[in-house]
Amino acid sequence: MKLTGKVAIVTGAGRGLGRAHALMLASLGAAVVVNDLGAELDGSGGSADAAESVAAEIIAAGGTAVANPDSVATSAGAAAIVETALRAFGRLDILVNNAGTTGGLVEFGDLDDDRLMSVLGSHLIGCFNVSRAVWRPMAAQGYGRIVNTTSGVGLFGMGRGVAYAAAKMGIVGLTRSLAIEGAAHGIKVNAIAPIAATRMAGPVFGALDEHLDPARVSPVVAYLAHADCRITGRVFSVGGGRVGEVFFGAADGYFNPELTPDDVAANLDAALDHTAFVLPTDAMDEVDITARMHGLCGIATNKHGD
Ligand SMILES: NC(=O)c1ccc[n+]([C@@H]2O[C@H](COP(=O)([O-])OP(=O)(O)OC[C@H]3O[C@@H](n4cnc5c(N)ncnc54)[C@H](O)[C@@H]3O)[C@@H](O)[C@H]2O)c1
Repeated sequence: MKLTGKVAIVTGAGRGLGRAHALMLASLGAAVVVNDLGAELDGSGGSADAAESVAAEIIAAGGTAVANPDSVATSAGAAAIVETALRAFGRLDILVNNAGTTGGLVEFGDLDDDRLMSVLGSHLIGCFNVSRAVWRPMAAQGYGRIVNTTSGVGLFGMGRGVAYAAAKMGIVGLTRSLAIEGAAHGIKVNAIAPIAATRMAGPVFGALDEHLDPARVSPVVAYLAHADCRITGRVFSVGGGRVGEVFFGAADGYFNPELTPDDVAANLDAALDHTAFVLPTDAMDEVDITARMHGLCGIATNKHGD
């Protein structure tokens, strides 16, 4: 699998997972914009050193790269990142949205505005900003690949990580809806939920750490960034050499056109039953469950068809 002639932006590529993705894409022949604000774990500070050292590492290995130190958290920063790609390499094919800071673990009652906005800004708004900035050039050329980064914390929940979780689940919504819009423009949009031993993860994975080299996540990013990628709007749980889809289902549940509160209480087990379900590819697929119960079918028309 080669990426010769392709141009990629990897955000937050100065260390950890982003660095591994940048090295992987460059080793396959892509020219890479190594973006990193050089932020501390809590989002403070900033330095071009991290981005520059990874760009130098790629060039020393015979690859092509340029460093960029702008923040994804502002639309001006995102525009500068895209401008760096277009100025250096003249085109743009791949965006890996990876940058972000957790803001640390904090009880919900202690979550202040600064911490909330810093976490939403670097992850969710950052993902919006850079995706919006690449959208027009990608749509104009009728081709693009966007790989977003969500998290098991967002997908499945974790106490004291509510802002981060909300940002990361927002990225799933962005991914699935952007995939639908992207279909008309040849743009495929998928997401990964990585598991890797990095600065951000700290000691949380314990004995598993030795198996969690971030480089074991990057092959999935490379596939999703490749022209041969045949899926869009999907989310993958990836880490330590494992890759598996995270999927979203809606149960058929309990149906009664005369539904009452007492009915809900009496039939909660039926509503929670997972025996019959659908895996919607868009919002209308979910509506179709109710349509089917009312004897209608085929009202879902808004398909992105991967
Ligand atoms: N490590 C894991 O197990 C894990 C699990 C789930 C999700 N993730 C996600 O993977 C991504 C990478 O995480 P990591 O573990 O490599 O963390 P990391 O802290 O090692 O690296 C993140 C990088 O992003 C940069 N960054 C932060 N804010 C930025 C901004 N506004 N603009 C540009 N760069 C910015 C930082 O300077 C840093 O170099 C993050 O989105 C994270 O939420 C990681």
